[in-house]
Formats: sequence, C-alpha cells, structure tokens
Amino acid sequence: MLKLAISGKGGVGKTTLAAMLAYLFVKDGFTVTAIDCDSSINLPSALGVREEVKPLSELREIIEQRVKGPFGTFRYNPKVDDVFESYSVRNNEGVRILVLGTIEKGGEGCFCPENAFLRAILRYAIFCDDVLILDMEAGIEHLGRGTAKGVDILIAVVEPGTRSIETLNRIDKLAADLGIERIAVVVNKYVDSPKALQLISGIVHPVLGVVPYNPCFIQADLENIPPYEMCDLRPFEGIKEKLIELVEVKK
Ligand SMILES: Nc1ncnc2c1ncn2[C@@H]1O[C@H](COP(=O)(O)OP(=O)(O)O)[C@@H](O)[C@H]1O
Ligand SMILES: [Mg+2]
Repeated sequence: MLKLAISGKGGVGKTTLAAMLAYLFVKDGFTVTAIDCDSSINLPSALGVREEVKPLSELREIIEQRVKGPFGTFRYNPKVDDVFESYSVRNNEGVRILVLGTIEKGGEGCFCPENAFLRAILRYAIFCDDVLILDMEAGIEHLGRGTAKGVDILIAVVEPGTRSIETLNRIDKLAADLGIERIAVVVNKYVDSPKALQLISGIVHPVLGVVPYNPCFIQADLENIPPYEMCDLRPFEGIKEKLIELVEVKK
C-alpha cells in the first residue's frame, strides 16, 4: 500500500521521522513494518523496544545455508519468509521491527551472500504489511533494484544547512540510478531565518513538511522514550497526510 524509504545525512532526524510515521500509521489501523537499514542501529529504541534485536546480517549460518546452493551455485532468491517472522519483534503499538545490520557497500555488482540475503528480506518486506518504512543511511545503493522498484517514495530528510542539501543532491543521483522516481523532502530541525528560508525554497522536490527544531526530541532521546510519547505529533500528522496525497494510497 505505502512503501517508503527514508534517507539523509547522519543526525538529521531520519529515525525520528521513521518512528513517528510508524506510530501514526499503526494508530490508523494499518499494519506496519519498520526496518532499520542504518549501520548505527537505533530504530528499535526509537520505537520503544528495550530488548536487543538481532541484526539479520549476523545470521551467518542461516545466510550460508540459504544463499549457497549445491556445487558452489548461488541462489539469488533465497527463502526468507520464516527468518522474517522469527527475527522480527513487535513494539507496544504492534509495529513489526527488523534490523538489517551492516551491508557490504558493493552496489549492484556485489554478490556477497549477505547482500543477496538482505536484499531478499527487503523484497519480501515490500509485500508483507500495509506500510513499509525503511530507515536508511544517505547511501541507498544497497537497496538493490528489486526493492527500489517496490518503493513508492523516497523521503530525503534535510536540515536547513549547506551540507545537508549537498547530501540531498547525492541522494537524488543514487535514487535516479536505482530507478526510484518519486522523491520528497522533509525539512527537520527548522529554525527560521532568511538563509534557511532561501535554502528551502531552492529544493526542487515536493516538501512534505517542515518540523521545527524542538529540544523535546533531544530530551526524549536522552530519556530513551519514543518521541511520539512526549513530543508534538502535529508536524508529522501533516507529513503523513501529504504523503498519502502524493502517493494516493488506497486502503
Ligand atoms: N526537530 C528536531 N529538533 C531537535 N532535535 C531533533 C529533531 N529531530 C530529531 N532531533 C534529535 O536529533 C538527533 C538525531 O536524530 P535521529 O532521528 O537519530 O537522526 P538520524 O536517524 O538521521 O541519524 C536525536 O537526538 C534526535 O532526538
Ligand atoms: Mg538513525
């Protein structure tokens, strides 16, 4: 129904946005899968999960078993449905959460078993629940074309800053290479100033929303409380509505 990938420079608020959207969609009655694809894993805790979630990239034996066929052959479509079920956890609200772990940065040309396995997980995830949220790094090349095709929209999170906008341009190129057609932007940590306004008005993609800088998010992170339990949800409700409008989601 709605499959989205979230990307952007480190620290801009990707995980915060992923957690907020997962919460809002599950509250609306949709089934939601959220996958942490960032090597600095923090989506589970942003969703209120206290126990450690095993990164799928660490399932060495299972990966070997599934990806390697007889006589040195290689399965590009390994079976992963059971792994998907048994290595996902649910938070209090019922969001299904998985952690991918570190992926070799080899782009399309890399055929290491871990990548084949993790990509199979992502392809499987596309068809699992109503909503799929991928919390990614700025480098999205490990998505693979198979998954990229299933992604409805890539949300690039930016801060009003030159470096973050530079990253946006890189993400643009990567998305085009992967065949992701729709890109939208969320501006986070916004502090009003003429320069900030100028930077934002230069963004060529649709802007789903502008989230003001708010110390509440830092407080929530400090106290290890999910941001939706203590911070203002309204900017994210607006983002969710715009998202639905843009992708024309049918339930
Ligand atoms: N709008 C905001 N205002 C202030 N701090 C924020 C805001 N959004 C996120 N943060 C804080 O910024 C830090 C990085 O956010 P996070 O979502 O983990 O970024 P990323 O996943 O992109 O690395 C966290 O401490 C988070 O609480
Ligand atoms: Mg993050």
